[in-house]
Amino acid sequence: MCGIVGYIGHRKAYPILINGLKRLEYRGYDSAGVAILDNGEIDLYKCQGKVANLEALIGDDSKLLGTAGIGHTRWATHGPPNDVNAHPHSSGDGNMVMIHNGIIENYGPIRKELQKRGHKFVSDTDTEVLVQLIENILKNEQVSLFEAVRIALSEVVGAYAIVVMDKNNPNQLIAAKKGSPMVIGIGEDKEFFIASDATPIVEYTKEVVYLDDEEIAIIDREKGFKLKNIRNQEKTPYVQELEVQLEALEKGGYEHFMLKEIYEQPRSIRDSMRGRLRPQDGLVELGGIRDYIQKFVHAKRIIIIGCGTSWHAGLVGEYLFEDLARIPVEVEYASEFRYRNPVIDESDVVIAISQSGETADTLAAIELAKSKGATIIGICNVIGSSIPRATHAGSYTHAGPEIGVASTKAFTAQVTVLTLMALYVAHQKGSITDSRYRSLLFELDAIPGKVEQVLAQNDKIKYISEIYKDKPNALYLGRGYNFPVALEGALKLKEISYIHAEGYPAAEMKHGPIALIDEEMPVFVIAPRAGYYEKIVSNIQEVKARKGKIIAIITEGEEQVKEMAEHYIEIPDADECLMPLITSIPLQLLSYHIAVLRNCNVDQPRNLAKSVTVE
Ligand code: AGP
Repeated sequence: MCGIVGYIGHRKAYPILINGLKRLEYRGYDSAGVAILDNGEIDLYKCQGKVANLEALIGDDSKLLGTAGIGHTRWATHGPPNDVNAHPHSSGDGNMVMIHNGIIENYGPIRKELQKRGHKFVSDTDTEVLVQLIENILKNEQVSLFEAVRIALSEVVGAYAIVVMDKNNPNQLIAAKKGSPMVIGIGEDKEFFIASDATPIVEYTKEVVYLDDEEIAIIDREKGFKLKNIRNQEKTPYVQELEVQLEALEKGGYEHFMLKEIYEQPRSIRDSMRGRLRPQDGLVELGGIRDYIQKFVHAKRIIIIGCGTSWHAGLVGEYLFEDLARIPVEVEYASEFRYRNPVIDESDVVIAISQSGETADTLAAIELAKSKGATIIGICNVIGSSIPRATHAGSYTHAGPEIGVASTKAFTAQVTVLTLMALYVAHQKGSITDSRYRSLLFELDAIPGKVEQVLAQNDKIKYISEIYKDKPNALYLGRGYNFPVALEGALKLKEISYIHAEGYPAAEMKHGPIALIDEEMPVFVIAPRAGYYEKIVSNIQEVKARKGKIIAIITEGEEQVKEMAEHYIEIPDADECLMPLITSIPLQLLSYHIAVLRNCNVDQPRNLAKSVTVE
């Protein structure tokens, strides 16, 4: 939701902070700020807008010599995006500054109590309340900075990833985490990096510690790094070796991260199968869930939870597990599931899908299901993030860092892992014939090459985008396995081009939405040969009869729909259950090109953030 970054060591802090904020800007970009501690004074700069606005505000940074500092890029939760509400926030006496990612739910009563004690607030934020609570404790209870932070956090309810810097403790940063992500990089000769994820850290060190909930780090440039929990118990830091490479974070010559990530899909799908798919041996091996395979085999039901694109991947999972493994599946929006008092018991297997591994609603849904005895299996793209740590087992997608806010390669990686899982379980259950099982293994193995073929049509897809870029609405239609793809295609267009778009099961049109059809309505129809082809042809005829403009995704060589459509994109043939891995690609490119042609900010669309770590 927000991006936090901190540094203490022997280098100038500002360049590390500002570059770190640029890498974290995908998490939120309503406002940004930095605070640098230099010679006992805190230089604080913050403003509304993107990190570039902050750089412009600071101008000549040669004066910023301090070797300790914190920085923040915001996605507003409390109070509008403006200069005053930007982080870092200061204590009343100005001696302390703090950055925060998360929500303090009981900030109202705390604010009132502090106001009674004479504290004054200049912002609308919960963060300013927390930093002044720490200030109040530090002063009145005559305790250490760590102890003041610990006591304050014991009083708050909510989620936080905070870094506190105090000019009276110039050699220390105090960092704490609960419900929002935080990773600490351990550099050489007592330098330390703090960030919401590894991207600002990886160029300086590969040694990292992912903080667990309710852990507090005392980071001291002389004494080193100590970890305690909120109950004041010493903890042993688990130092991991970062796998992500710096070049994975760069655009690699593409204009936008989103386009780079679309083109990475042959590799990211291949990487998500690597070591797991062995067609020659007729094997699918998912080591991460091997110990739980019998839970799947005997499951009365599978519940799949997620949000947004991950929820769409879950819908594909429903078709896969029911079709191949013959297990009833329910797909739930995590935000609904967590509050509707669902009926869950220990016979349930819950699959939680998340690219970031930090989505608050999905995390909460996991905790609910776990509390009722269900087995929780994760499918996540960020190693060491909160969701994998909350599950019993799982399989990572190996899509690599996804920086573009609109999810693309993570979606196809999630569907790849779901396909592997469904095949693995189906084979264990004997719910699939050996011949279909083996044939699907080889077909799945060939998918990266088929995705390459679709990407090769980028120019044609861009041409089609130019024709429809100014339409105010769009409809996406699909059937069976491609119904979730219709939803995902519509979401892509909505979130990066701001065009209103809806996805529907194609047969659903005649139950109302067909009233929307006229000559102004572009209708993107996913109509591959595999799966309900004749049915979707009649749906296309229904749309044509109302003058709707058909843009069809068809199997190469298919003539019937080609003649009916204004435009068509040909894709290679594949088994129906593997189609989402192919049919989603042209829709990603369509939304990308339309958004670029509309001069939208493709990688950082308005109002959005890459990871929604608050409710
Ligand atoms: C997808 O393009 C969006 N960025 C959004 O819907 C996203 O899929 C959703 O917020 C879930 O995020 P997660 O996969 O990181 O949990």
